[in-house]
Amino acid sequence: MSYPTFHNLIGGQWLPAVSGKSILNLNPADHRDVVGAFPSSHAEDVALAMAAAQKAFVSWRLVPAPKRAEILMRAGLLLKDRKEQYAREMTREMGKVLTETRGDVQEAIDEAFYVAGEGRRLFGQTTPSELPNKFAMSLRVPLGVVGLITPWNFPMAIPAWKLFPALVGGNACVIKPASATPLSVYNLVQALVDAGLPPGVVNIVSGSGPAVGMALVEHPGVRAVSFTGSSEVGSQVAQRAAALFKPVSLEMGGKNAQIVLDDANLELALDGALWGAFGTTGQRCTATSRILLQKGIAARFTAEFVSRAQKLVVGNGLEASVEVGPQINPSQVETSAKYVAIALAEGAKLLTGGHPLTEGAYAHGSFFEPTVLGGVTPSMRIAREEVFGPVVGLMEFDSFEQAIEIANSTDYGLSTAIYTKDVNRAFTAMRDLETGIAYINAPTIGAEVHLPFGGVKRTGNGHREGLGAIDFFTTWKAVYVDYSDKLQRAQIDNAE
Ligand code: UN1
Repeated sequence: MSYPTFHNLIGGQWLPAVSGKSILNLNPADHRDVVGAFPSSHAEDVALAMAAAQKAFVSWRLVPAPKRAEILMRAGLLLKDRKEQYAREMTREMGKVLTETRGDVQEAIDEAFYVAGEGRRLFGQTTPSELPNKFAMSLRVPLGVVGLITPWNFPMAIPAWKLFPALVGGNACVIKPASATPLSVYNLVQALVDAGLPPGVVNIVSGSGPAVGMALVEHPGVRAVSFTGSSEVGSQVAQRAAALFKPVSLEMGGKNAQIVLDDANLELALDGALWGAFGTTGQRCTATSRILLQKGIAARFTAEFVSRAQKLVVGNGLEASVEVGPQINPSQVETSAKYVAIALAEGAKLLTGGHPLTEGAYAHGSFFEPTVLGGVTPSMRIAREEVFGPVVGLMEFDSFEQAIEIANSTDYGLSTAIYTKDVNRAFTAMRDLETGIAYINAPTIGAEVHLPFGGVKRTGNGHREGLGAIDFFTTWKAVYVDYSDKLQRAQIDNAE
């Protein structure tokens, strides 16, 4: 079978990896379908990309921010024109269903329009000086060249969350796409190039995490690193970056809970739980992986939820009837199976699913049944560790206070939902949930680009994407202008 070969984008040129080697991008719904060969890059390719980025930064930082923003605006419009094509290509390389890949491209479009507006809002402050005839202000300035390491589950949206704020802030970028889904980053960057982005301002280096990601973190020219992925890899990135005194923004795992109180609109809570747990085949860091049920509705909810999960149509995301696509690769399927086995060994009950799908139309893909486990308790590993697959655990509780305690009892803190009609409890939950994102009567997935995105505890290291990304991708410069024509010593000449 023939398939296209892609190269790295370095200084506006498409160049093969120095190694001459490549990594095949396979369709997770059918591994016989090769989307393309992408470069298997290493430190030497990173070095070439860095040289190009450092050169481009010299002039890019001087382009007025509103002009930089216009390029993003045009890129957003191009993405809008190409949405259907890019969504189809994304389903082919990543697997999630077409409605969701359209949403992924849409999230990149939203980010483009949102950040384009920020081009005229890179506000600093002016403030009175403590001395007469002296002016004081703070300016946002670019960091320089930044390294971006992006995941496969949102192959275009998350790269956009990082690239667009970095660019409007005046930085040049080297981006490493996830090796499972590089095509969507190529498509995103193609839109930027077609929108007029100068050569070298964004460079793509494809390859494996250990080979390219670490080389990027370690390259002396990289001024900051933004990473989305697992907590294990994030910890390695953070440790390396800390030793080199580089700022690093980490967005990592979750063990997100949906709480359903006895007074909830049960239909709504069921719809939300089904979408939160099995949307994107459970492969979102915001995916619902624990459903906390108050005793009064637990039996009814469980029966209905299991029956709805059983009816979900699993298959190739390009087919209109399919609701749940494949997992990204065989190793993620193994992880799902492994966690089901661990849960059962620890005393949970398999209510539906639990196995890889391997027959017939599933024979050549990475499919796993939508899986519901009952009788899960807070100390079980299935209640504490991220699975990143279509596996959700049901837990029961007596009181509202207990629900909050269980929801908070994991090491992660990304997204938490509560379904209730009681406004007092809703507000108490908003206050007391240890989470970066809280939803009232809405599922744990579906954050919008202009709010802060990120979490507490093991989910992140304090930074935010969306609202907050520009804070990460710019630094402050304090500027004092003394127009008194004499030496004025702060803290001394104005002292009593
Ligand atoms: C992720 O899973 O890494 O809030 C990002 C959501 C999406 C983004 C998820 N807008 O579910």
